[in-house]
Amino acid sequence: MKPPPASGLLFCIFAAVGLFYSVIPRSPIHDVQRRQINSSQKYSGGIGTKMTVLPSWYISENDTVEINCFMHTDTSNKSDKMDLQLVWTSLHTKTKKVLMSQRASIGIFYVLNPVTHEHQGVYTCRGDGSLPDIYVHTWHYFIWVDDSSPPASIDVISHNRSQFANREEFTIGCQLPDDNNQWKMMRFDSWVGTIAECPNQVTSDRHLSCTSRSALPWADDLYWCESAAGDRTNALNVTTTVVMVVLETPTLPVWEGNNVTLRCLYRNRTTKEFTTKFRTVFYKDDRLKFVTNGASVTLPSVTKADEGLYKCRHPEEGLSPIRWIGVKARPDVAQKSDVLHQSSTRTL
Ligand SMILES: *[C@@H]1O[C@H](CO)[C@@H](O)[C@H](O)[C@H]1NC(C)=O
Ligand SMILES: *[C@@H]1O[C@H](CO)[C@@H](O)[C@H](O)[C@H]1NC(C)=O
Ligand SMILES: *[C@@H]1O[C@H](CO)[C@@H](O)[C@H](O)[C@H]1NC(C)=O
Ligand SMILES: *[C@@H]1O[C@H](CO)[C@@H](O)[C@H](O)[C@H]1NC(C)=O
Ligand SMILES: *[C@@H]1O[C@H](CO)[C@@H](O)[C@H](O)[C@H]1NC(C)=O
Ligand SMILES: *[C@@H]1O[C@H](CO)[C@@H](O)[C@H](O)[C@H]1NC(C)=O
Ligand SMILES: *[C@@H]1O[C@H](CO)[C@@H](O)[C@H](O)[C@H]1NC(C)=O
Repeated sequence: MKPPPASGLLFCIFAAVGLFYSVIPRSPIHDVQRRQINSSQKYSGGIGTKMTVLPSWYISENDTVEINCFMHTDTSNKSDKMDLQLVWTSLHTKTKKVLMSQRASIGIFYVLNPVTHEHQGVYTCRGDGSLPDIYVHTWHYFIWVDDSSPPASIDVISHNRSQFANREEFTIGCQLPDDNNQWKMMRFDSWVGTIAECPNQVTSDRHLSCTSRSALPWADDLYWCESAAGDRTNALNVTTTVVMVVLETPTLPVWEGNNVTLRCLYRNRTTKEFTTKFRTVFYKDDRLKFVTNGASVTLPSVTKADEGLYKCRHPEEGLSPIRWIGVKARPDVAQKSDVLHQSSTRTL
């Protein structure tokens, strides 16, 4: 296994916290959950870690990827006596490697430049285990390097969105190439950091699907299909949330010139029914963008300038999770047809 050609540098932890809080908006609930320290009393203290990765969406080959693994809470003042480790589990070889180790009080700044498909896998920020009485929260992040022409496609087929309320059922499908040999749908669970086959997969002809029910709130799971020969679709990021507000957006990047409709959905806690009739505020990159009364808004003929992180707000229930809308330049050749969209029935 070849180690990634990457350079690690020290990075001032205080600057990192300030910088990344302003660059990457996360839902506050998501943050609280991640910061939680195991409450069982066998530890004399705890260190809360956090990992940020930039760019945070759609990393492409040759991008410069910056990984930060740092401590942001320390209840025992032990962060200058133990190390944090950045561990990489390769998607290709499944082997683990400690990429860098550094005093927890300083933190790790690690750069992949240029990033390649070889770098794909799970990046874990954890303690070095040298102080067993200190609980160190582990953080996992999957770095997926997008393929500009993947051999197969993946999308949500049951809904027009990739954000789901807790315990909602949804189906993801892959459209496979002709030579369908032993494709499987895989899922990365960002909470525990594991990769497993999506259970109960259904294959028919050149189509593979898997129906899941979101179990853990605040999870950002990645789904993809892969063949025995190592071919893969791109990854689909699915967010499940305990808030009752979700944003309906295109789940895959859209072509320049398309009209893109955003819809804010609110799920009644009692009836579990979704409604869209309320005064909605839409945000782009944390700035107020539109206010509507119908909960839906269309971005006409989108350009690269419309690309960004969107979210919406229900008057009482608050904010949906964020969702990236990517805009691709239209190729000169004929546009790809999206078989998945045409062959599926969709429900709210
Ligand atoms: C918390 O600690 C208990 C006791 O060691 C362990 O069983 C449990 O799995 C831990 N929970 C988490 C979330 O790490
Ligand atoms: C998945 O989506 C969440 C937002 O819901 C985002 O914070 C995270 O960076 C995304 N993960 C990847 C690997 O793109
Ligand atoms: C990345 O860089 C390599 C070497 O310069 C080049 O061959 C490759 O086409 C580049 N890939 C992309 C997606 O730009
Ligand atoms: C940690 O260090 C700070 C500053 O030195 C001190 O005020 C605080 O009481 C210490 N906390 C613990 C739990 O030792
Ligand atoms: C976008 O909407 C406008 C106005 O409704 C319509 O004329 C146009 O054909 C639409 N464009 C696409 C690509 O659907
Ligand atoms: C949820 O639905 C119930 C039954 O229709 C209704 O009485 C209640 O007002 C709804 N709650 C909200 C917040 O809309
Ligand atoms: C999903 O999107 C498609 C294409 O834009 C549209 O025809 C369909 O009505 C949408 N379904 C729902 C439930 O919104």
